[in-house]
Amino acid sequence: MKQQRAGLVFGILLTGIFLSNLLYAESGEQAWLRYAELDAKAAQQYESLPAVAVVLDDSAVLKTAQTELVRGIRGMLDRTLREESKMPQEPAIVLGTLEEVQQLDPAFKPAHKLDADGFWITKARVHGFPSIVVVGGNDRGVLYGAFALLSKIAQNESLATLNDLQQPYAPTRWVDQWDNPNGTIERGYGGPSIFFQNGSVRSDLTRAGEYARLLASIGIDGCNINNVNADLGTLKDDFIPQLARVADVFRPWGVKLSISIDLSSPKVIGGLGTFDPLDPKVVAWWKDKVDEIYKQIPDFGGFTVKADSEGRLGPSSYGRTPADAANMLAQALKPHGGVLFYRAFVYNHHLDWTNPKNDRARAAYDIFHPLDGKFEDNVIIQIKNGPIDFQVREPASPLFSGLEKTNEVMEVQVAQEYLGQQRHLCFLPPMWKEVLNFDMHAHGGNTPVKELIAGKTFHRPVGGMVAVVNVGMDANWLGSHLAMANLYGYGRLAWDPNVRSKTIAQEWTRLTFGNDPEVVQTVTDMQLASWPAYEEYTGPLGLQTLTNITGPHYGPGVESSENNGWGQWHRADHEGVGMDRSVATGTGYVGQYPAEAANMYESLATTPDDLLLFFHHVPYTYKLHSGKTVIQYLYDSHYEGAARAKEFVAQWESLKGRVDEQRYAETLTKFEYQAGHAIVWRDAVARWFARESGISDAKGRVGHYPDRVEAEDMQLEGYKAVDIAPWENASGGKGVECDAAGCSASFKFDRPAGWYEVDVQYFDMPTGDAKFLMYVNDQLVNEWVADDRLPARDLGGDSSTRRWIAGVALRTGDRVRVEGVPDGGDHAALDCVTIHKMEATTIPKNSARASERGANAARQ
Ligand code: GCU
Repeated sequence: MKQQRAGLVFGILLTGIFLSNLLYAESGEQAWLRYAELDAKAAQQYESLPAVAVVLDDSAVLKTAQTELVRGIRGMLDRTLREESKMPQEPAIVLGTLEEVQQLDPAFKPAHKLDADGFWITKARVHGFPSIVVVGGNDRGVLYGAFALLSKIAQNESLATLNDLQQPYAPTRWVDQWDNPNGTIERGYGGPSIFFQNGSVRSDLTRAGEYARLLASIGIDGCNINNVNADLGTLKDDFIPQLARVADVFRPWGVKLSISIDLSSPKVIGGLGTFDPLDPKVVAWWKDKVDEIYKQIPDFGGFTVKADSEGRLGPSSYGRTPADAANMLAQALKPHGGVLFYRAFVYNHHLDWTNPKNDRARAAYDIFHPLDGKFEDNVIIQIKNGPIDFQVREPASPLFSGLEKTNEVMEVQVAQEYLGQQRHLCFLPPMWKEVLNFDMHAHGGNTPVKELIAGKTFHRPVGGMVAVVNVGMDANWLGSHLAMANLYGYGRLAWDPNVRSKTIAQEWTRLTFGNDPEVVQTVTDMQLASWPAYEEYTGPLGLQTLTNITGPHYGPGVESSENNGWGQWHRADHEGVGMDRSVATGTGYVGQYPAEAANMYESLATTPDDLLLFFHHVPYTYKLHSGKTVIQYLYDSHYEGAARAKEFVAQWESLKGRVDEQRYAETLTKFEYQAGHAIVWRDAVARWFARESGISDAKGRVGHYPDRVEAEDMQLEGYKAVDIAPWENASGGKGVECDAAGCSASFKFDRPAGWYEVDVQYFDMPTGDAKFLMYVNDQLVNEWVADDRLPARDLGGDSSTRRWIAGVALRTGDRVRVEGVPDGGDHAALDCVTIHKMEATTIPKNSARASERGANAARQ
């Protein structure tokens, strides 16, 4: 009886574990480290895998490698390897540094020398037993090798002949988080901070440890955890022990902790009368602070500094240079082995926009190039990939070739601040690779950016990449399952910039969704199509993302960049568009590139079309290399990009049943939203340029929407028409808003009877959850709750969204009515209704789907 009960309890426990594992996998929490069980056929090829995982040292990182290997193999093959610390009398998977493995077998030798963090996975006889050896240049290398071995199994790769030697391309591979002590994240779109809460480090740092695991699995070894706009409290004495707790959860994964600091700290929290970097009191203050940090965190990575930028104080307050400030800090860090990342994102955001020679793009080079060679060896200049600010397309920053005697890293942004904020799919490795591969021709040679930043060209000791990631407490880390491909892709490129984007997308898909070829192909195609599509409907031809730059950087805001000091100008007027950055007639920015690149960009004829308007101001009728005029290209690309976004919905739907229900449904909702928002973008930008240029769309689309009924033109009960600003962000420039308990807007359908798709464009404010009901005559066809949390402050391009209602049978004379029930600050505002004829064949499937989802949404 007793035994029976124990069995029962065990059974329940097991079921619990099994279920929770399943749920885990589906929430996206395990990202690409799901270790999902392989099917029997795939598992068969691993049958001869050794039964033991031996680790040759008891360091924390090596122990992690062993535990991870056991965990992964248990998940994928349902076998628990025995953990040993000595070579057994049987085949084993041996984990150790080269030195350690050579102690077992002095003849063991890789074909190439193993650098720090490098690894070699091979087959060898150890003590006479055929074994798999995962050998590293150091402990971290072993851990990276263990992850690589697991990745091969997860992707069903054969282990028959193992000979994989990998070295990191660059020594510096870090991530930054822009988290604030109060738990918010600047430009974070995946929930609150995993590190901080209510002014302190979180008491439960489980997620921080899991993040370090993800980072280690892609070869990242440093993480700066707080906002570059640093909270000064981070350096207070009572905060350092809290930071030490984060370092403790990072350490087993070989990830170093680093923090952003504010240069004014000695004055503000230190009580000194100054923060002049050359003042001996200030120097001593920083030295003491750094010594204290290292006392508590011996493997602390270093500091990141944002100074004299966007309101942050800096050395210019005392007439000092960035080199003065950076070196002072670097000298304090040097004895401990720390590094100092000094950001080149320094510019004046009060530029006089009336002066055509002013140009924010020039700032980084103008400030840092003259200082080349004046920085300490442990200073790294952190340079954004382009000269402005993570726009949808920018040229490579000329500063990459402007520093020869100074270390540098390229800063990229995984957080899609200007790229749809993880609500739009935008796979970034192809964009990063364009910059990495851009040949600067420094001194006339072949000097692609990837070599410059890695320190290969000018023989610098450190260099590489840093990415601003901003994961949060959302189960799936970034707020979107598919956006995680950017974090994975960043790690892969920081490790090896020569990996193809397609390979990255395929690998990531296999690890994230399994090896079903249909899924791998479809998701890879979608990822690869996504950046071009986003560029087409938000800012083609080098215009940069035409977003609301003084607001949340999200929806369209074509004019928001103009007539202010922020310097993200595109200079569009009645005659033409683009920034003249040429040396001959413009701001001279082009002259910052080495001769060959400068010559290419200086001339209109050789500037690539996709950067034309970044470098030149041209009339709307200017003909691109394709022969199309600029204005027609602007129209066409917006229509093509939005159409592509719509295709994503159908592509994803083709995977129903092949991807687990939760991730399938969450991702589908995202694509449906994106398809609607891409139309908002398309219409806003196209209509703005049509009005500004006075040139109509040769294809007659822009400004003509025969399928659309404007809400303000409907019969309104309770609803009142309101102007939307800027006008182009709402169809007809207006919407309707409800200030009563409930309102309705209706119109008579006057087209022939048939099956239609009725799309309701409405505004979803984050301040409440308004409800909508759509009727045909008196029959309720669809209802939903506007409960998304869009980054919107008002009615317009940030809040505009669409309800796609397929399979609606309409007859001439039917009354279509939308009812809105406001909630809190959400006034159930409507923009328009679009009615498209449907293909008869698609009716049954879509019809069922729409009503099912309508019911779901209404229940929430
Ligand atoms: C962008 C971003 C800011 C951030 C800044 C930076 O401008 O909008 O939030 O602080 O970049 O990189 O420092």
